[in-house]
Amino acid sequence: PQLGQVLPDQPELKIIRRKIPGFVGFANLPKQWHRKSIRRGFTFNLLVVSQKGLGKSTLINTLFNKDLDSIGESNPNAVAEKLEGTGLEDGEENAASLHTNEGSGESNLHSNVKINAATTTIEENGVNLKLTVVDTPGFGDAIDNTDSWKPIVDEINLRFDQYLDSENRINRTFEDDNRIHACLYFIEPTAHLLKPLDIEFCKQVHEKCNLIPVIAKSDILTEEEINVFKRRIRRQLDEAQVQLFQPPQYSLDDEESIQASRELYEKLPYAVVGSTEVVVSRDGRQVRGRSYPWGVIEVDNSNHCDFVYLRDMLVSQYLEELRERTNKVLYEKYRSEKLTRLGIKQDNSVFKEFDPDMRQKEEKQLHEAKLAKLEAEMKTVFHQKVSEKEKKLQKSEAELFSRHKEMKEKLTKQLKALEDKKRQLESSVNNPAPPSPAQPKKKGFLR
Ligand code: GTP
Repeated sequence: PQLGQVLPDQPELKIIRRKIPGFVGFANLPKQWHRKSIRRGFTFNLLVVSQKGLGKSTLINTLFNKDLDSIGESNPNAVAEKLEGTGLEDGEENAASLHTNEGSGESNLHSNVKINAATTTIEENGVNLKLTVVDTPGFGDAIDNTDSWKPIVDEINLRFDQYLDSENRINRTFEDDNRIHACLYFIEPTAHLLKPLDIEFCKQVHEKCNLIPVIAKSDILTEEEINVFKRRIRRQLDEAQVQLFQPPQYSLDDEESIQASRELYEKLPYAVVGSTEVVVSRDGRQVRGRSYPWGVIEVDNSNHCDFVYLRDMLVSQYLEELRERTNKVLYEKYRSEKLTRLGIKQDNSVFKEFDPDMRQKEEKQLHEAKLAKLEAEMKTVFHQKVSEKEKKLQKSEAELFSRHKEMKEKLTKQLKALEDKKRQLESSVNNPAPPSPAQPKKKGFLR
């Protein structure tokens, strides 16, 4: 249904919960699912984008606690050789998904950015993770980096296309999901601002993969510098309308987890420090960290850097959510746009209804529209009031003016009358009237 549409009354559904006295067996479903997932293992494809020397290899090794010292090589064959030499047993790892964008027809324009992918299987407590790290050596290292992002976006699209192809095949196998599940973007620790290339890259990919930015080598910045830098970065990304990966809250049911997931999102971009070296902390503990004359920076200590938040977001808490969002939101968007471009009509209504991100976006738009309407109404009322007041003022001004005029006329009249009178008196003083002949001279005893 469309937003705001009135739905017809639904019949009330009664859910009756019944306890079964005997054993049926479906209570085993979680166990079955667990067994199956363990057997099948998990796939995770991580894109890492960084300028040269920002500590990308070190951070990936720190994250997976394993020497994956293969990324960052410009020659994809070198990646394969390195992986073969990591000492895992046969079948535990392979470097089958090596791929380079060379020969894509645009190599002259973007010849300095290459795509190297290396796959390895890692195991923890019986759970297998098939991890592919897709590296992009050469990104941002050229003089003109304007289009540096393009081969990376092409790579993400190519992986979506491969998946789309496999979906359309009659014998579908989704065993190999090569889609990018997350993108780790390394920001240079300048403590200043994001570069135009950083912003452009984020704008180009944020609707294609789950974007997680990190401030590289953050141990070279002070805590204050990191806080200010983070705020600036978030503001710049907000202004560019870049959406970072946000752990979905609908899947969490207790307030504590919701709060933790909020905190994870608020801490972005993570100020990370990478190191696989074990050093001795000031209080004598053996820790992974970097040792300086003034002390030790502990990688796994959230008071020292944000590495643990990154690990939670990327691996231990939200790996499955990253995969799910890639599948349900990002890939669906790509797929439906592609099919629309090909002239195939899509019915997104069902998808839209269940997609929390789209729902959130729609609700935000609706809220903004409401605010804009309210603001427009307030402006109209304000203008109306101002014009009424102006009219009143004009009217009273006119009245004053006419009263003033009236008074002036009256005074002028009075003045004229007085002047006339004055003139009469003056002339009567200057020309006194001769005595009247008709009046006889009085005789009398008064003399
Ligand atoms: P390229 O493959 O050349 O692009 O390098 P990279 O980005 O993979 O960097 P790498 O991990 O090879 O690290 C480069 C240098 O930075 C090494 O000397 C690391 O020891 C150092 N380094 C790595 N991480 C950190 C960090 O968090 N802090 C500091 N201070 N140095 C680091």
